[in-house]
Amino acid sequence: MTDHWLKTPHWSTDIPLDTPHPRLEALEEHGYVVLRDLDHVVPEHEYLSLEYMDWKSGGDTNFAPIATADGELDCRGFWKEGDPRPDKDGRFTTNAALCPSLVEEVSSVGANFGRVRTIKLEPQDYDSARRQIHRDDNNRFNPDDQGWIVRSWLELTDFPDSFMVLMEQGPDGLPDPSTEVRLPLHRGARFVLDTQRLWHVVCHTGTKPRYALITSFESGPALDGWIASQLP
Ligand SMILES: [Fe+2]
Repeated sequence: MTDHWLKTPHWSTDIPLDTPHPRLEALEEHGYVVLRDLDHVVPEHEYLSLEYMDWKSGGDTNFAPIATADGELDCRGFWKEGDPRPDKDGRFTTNAALCPSLVEEVSSVGANFGRVRTIKLEPQDYDSARRQIHRDDNNRFNPDDQGWIVRSWLELTDFPDSFMVLMEQGPDGLPDPSTEVRLPLHRGARFVLDTQRLWHVVCHTGTKPRYALITSFESGPALDGWIASQLP
């Protein structure tokens, strides 16, 4: 444990891994599935003109909420004090009117979605990225008999040398580097990740910020069918 690059205890280690929630077969083996690249380019203004909020997750990041628990521009949204909700039944914010094709990408899946947002990530090298690696608490307040919440990515900018780092959790409760997978972040790259299972972070080698659309989806027949229709 002492030679691991993360300090213990790490907050991600305590996030539940094994639960009764129904999960997707497509993610069972690896915890992620890579889809076909998007077949069109999302116009730059759809993500550059959004209202971004200062919210740090996985590095020097800002997020533009497109759907939140109540439609307000709030990055916490779903876990508000006194009104905690699972990360689904998202409602569009004022940003949604500015990004019709992003809204269409989310709506066309046909699955229940929760938070939808674009991320803006400043460049960070591999070592800095690895220190930010974490698991998400996607299923907080999600009843055990309802679909496991996972996340989809759509890469908006073109940085083919940047990549998403994924690792399974080892028996010590920390990310196991022998399981590392790297997903390249060229424009149009799409994948679905179980970010509560996999430790994840982005190494961004570019010199300008990188943008992506991230959506929380509930596992179930709708998401399953959509993934099957989007495979390479
Ligand atoms: Fe995350």
